[in-house]
Amino acid sequence: MSLLEAATAVRENAYAPYSRFKVGAAVRTVTGAVHVGCNVENAAYPEGTCAEAGAIAAMVAAGGTRIAEILVIADSAEPVPPCGGCRQKIAEFAPPEAAVTLCTTAGQEVRTTVAALLPGVFTAAHMDRA
Ligand code: THU
Repeated sequence: MSLLEAATAVRENAYAPYSRFKVGAAVRTVTGAVHVGCNVENAAYPEGTCAEAGAIAAMVAAGGTRIAEILVIADSAEPVPPCGGCRQKIAEFAPPEAAVTLCTTAGQEVRTTVAALLPGVFTAAHMDRA
């Protein structure tokens, strides 16, 4: 299944009664496995989670460690980029050159990279003192 098909399908399961903005995400790992996630909102609004975070959590739960590619889809006028927190979450598991594809349900597609979305990313290396 393509990342587009996977993200489109999981988006239907999004729990978004507050924003009414359903998002689907799919990651492909370096081993070829595909993991999906959707946004899950909460009556206590800050407790909601993004589709990207769900897909990453599913990957980690399945034993995946490296993202090769990620795709996000929403029903928006323009392809919606990941929020700041999700950019950092993606960068934890993806190399800077990894492809990020942003899609609309109407068929628009923008291709970018992890590095373009989060220049100057903070990484574990920044905690090295030597
Ligand atoms: N959302 C995502 O799941 N991913 C994005 O890339 C942008 C925003 C969700 C969070 C919230 O449930 C809703 O979209 C509106 O912000």
